[in-house]
Amino acid sequence: MAGASSPEARLGCIEDAILVVADGRVQWLGPRSEYVPSAAVAAMTPSAAIADIEITEVDLGGRLVMPGLVDCHTHLVYAGDRAADFEARCRGESYQAIAARGGGIRTSVAATRAASGDELRSLARPRLEALLAAGVTTVEVKSGYGLTVASELAQLEVIAALSRAGPQRIAPTLLLHIVPDEYRDARAQWVDIACDTLIPEAARRGLACAVDVFCDVGAFTPAESERILAAARANGLACKAHVEQLSATGFGVTAARLGALSLEHLEHADAATLDAMAAQGTVAVLLPTASIFLGDARRPPVAAMRAAGVAMAVATDLNPGSSPTFDPWLAATLACTWYGLTPAEALLGVTTNGARALGRADAGTLVVGGPADFVVARVSRWQELLYGLGHRPITRTFIDGCERACTVTG
Ligand code: NIG
Ligand code: FE
Repeated sequence: MAGASSPEARLGCIEDAILVVADGRVQWLGPRSEYVPSAAVAAMTPSAAIADIEITEVDLGGRLVMPGLVDCHTHLVYAGDRAADFEARCRGESYQAIAARGGGIRTSVAATRAASGDELRSLARPRLEALLAAGVTTVEVKSGYGLTVASELAQLEVIAALSRAGPQRIAPTLLLHIVPDEYRDARAQWVDIACDTLIPEAARRGLACAVDVFCDVGAFTPAESERILAAARANGLACKAHVEQLSATGFGVTAARLGALSLEHLEHADAATLDAMAAQGTVAVLLPTASIFLGDARRPPVAAMRAAGVAMAVATDLNPGSSPTFDPWLAATLACTWYGLTPAEALLGVTTNGARALGRADAGTLVVGGPADFVVARVSRWQELLYGLGHRPITRTFIDGCERACTVTG
């Protein structure tokens, strides 16, 4: 029997569900067996739309409802593709080797810089729609393929426009991804520009909630990364880091001590990193589709994270290079089969803990008084949600109580 605070108990899945929604917020929710349409509910919700999942869609009888998904790590604003990188990796060349010869992220930077804001927006829109159809109601979107002040800010403007257009809730993040080629021999100068101009300007214009830095071989050093996150803090922005992914840098400890909201990837994280994360409440964002797509056999230390009490989120890492996927369900299933999470932990990873990684307490849960962001499953028991590889276990997505996406019925 699952305890009250066990992952199973915290999922927020309701079998054979009825929801009462008013003004985009949940007024009542629970199983049909407990629903008593009373005068009290009617009085509480004068303009309520009563969304009885079974009655409005008779062929959805007995469906399960769960919180809308939170994809807390994406790079979905980009132009071009990386099919050539993919082919090179299939022939045996590594992600790092491709990057070192000027491919990888640089390929996406060249294509993204050449695209207009309108083009980037039209390229990003169907990616967001694909996530919406998969049940993602809150999504983090990073910049990071611009690598000039103007181009990074332009990417953030595209993210802001996508956010205004809705319907998903978008958390914008400024990503300091790699050192641009123009500053290859003057790295410190680029870090100065990032800290003294780019980060303050993004903060001043309200274009980012967080700053993320990629600290690894071929990207930023720990010392450079520390300066960048310190600047983020000084400008009132949350901190994140792609860290301990391709190699062990030790920067995870520093980033956690700087108060990082989340650390991403963590395949090489050691005990010191996990202790620092646990002490700070830093969320581990696990990205199994990136591991799998890169053919990287190394896995993050999930058992040690669990033992240390580090909250684990799971995300798609949607990006053109290491994780060209739009499927949070696949990410969650692979988090189970490849990384060793339980299905309940993985579901929390794409809901509540994803929201924690964004510092958004009201997302990823389904509670009375909270936003009516939910999905309707085609399965009747939560245990079946991740039992499939490449399946989509949901049929309908609601944000603020309004239906925003409907996939095939059934
Ligand atoms: O999360 N690690 C660095 N950044 C991305 C990859 C971006 C890319 O390859 O374009 C990641 O895997
Ligand atoms: Fe990433």
